[in-house]
Amino acid sequence: MKELVLASNNKHKLEEIQNILKDYIILSLEDIGFKEEIEETGDTFKENSLIKARRVAEFSKKITIADDSGLCIDLLDGAPGVYSARYSTSGTDEDNLQKVLKNLNGKESTAKYVCVISLIDLEKREYTFTGECPGKIITKKQGIGGFGYDPIFFIESLKKTFAEISFEEKNKISHRKIALDKLLNYLILSQGGDLEKDKVK
Ligand code: IMP
Repeated sequence: MKELVLASNNKHKLEEIQNILKDYIILSLEDIGFKEEIEETGDTFKENSLIKARRVAEFSKKITIADDSGLCIDLLDGAPGVYSARYSTSGTDEDNLQKVLKNLNGKESTAKYVCVISLIDLEKREYTFTGECPGKIITKKQGIGGFGYDPIFFIESLKKTFAEISFEEKNKISHRKIALDKLLNYLILSQGGDLEKDKVK
């Protein structure tokens, strides 16, 4: 099977990505012995995704993907956005979610999850693929599945939050799934699914 390094230590992302890219072995940063903390200094998901992918590709010398993602809430002018993982002082999922509820002050708001997957191939060529999933932020947590802001991210058509649907259901409609489908399409169209095809032996 083909290997892809994922520039992340987030086990939820890793599980979701592995579940969607079933034909690839996804190696985590732990798997490749990468211990550095990468500073996400970009102002956009795309910049941060590329920052992570570039650093890890340089280290791994393997085909590398990175996921930068987050929640953009309309009533909060797009916050927490690229700061989704570090919105509260502690940066825990629970504190981040509680800060969103506090800032919304009892109001619901339309919102979207955004995910930018970057890919760096063995010739250091860079590609990015974006996925967006619209939803609504509700005023109380519902459900125990998923991670991050999922218990308050409500999908109107399902009448459920991302924390109330199964892992498989989330992976059919999420921002991550949409971005990864674009990546898969690219891989299939350009390389017959095999990024190592053009590798110079
Ligand atoms: P990153 O690791 O810098 O890309 O930050 C991603 C952050 O966005 C996570 O820590 C979550 O707070 C949030 N996030 C991204 N995708 C999801 C998701 O699928 N469910 C819930 N929260 C998410």
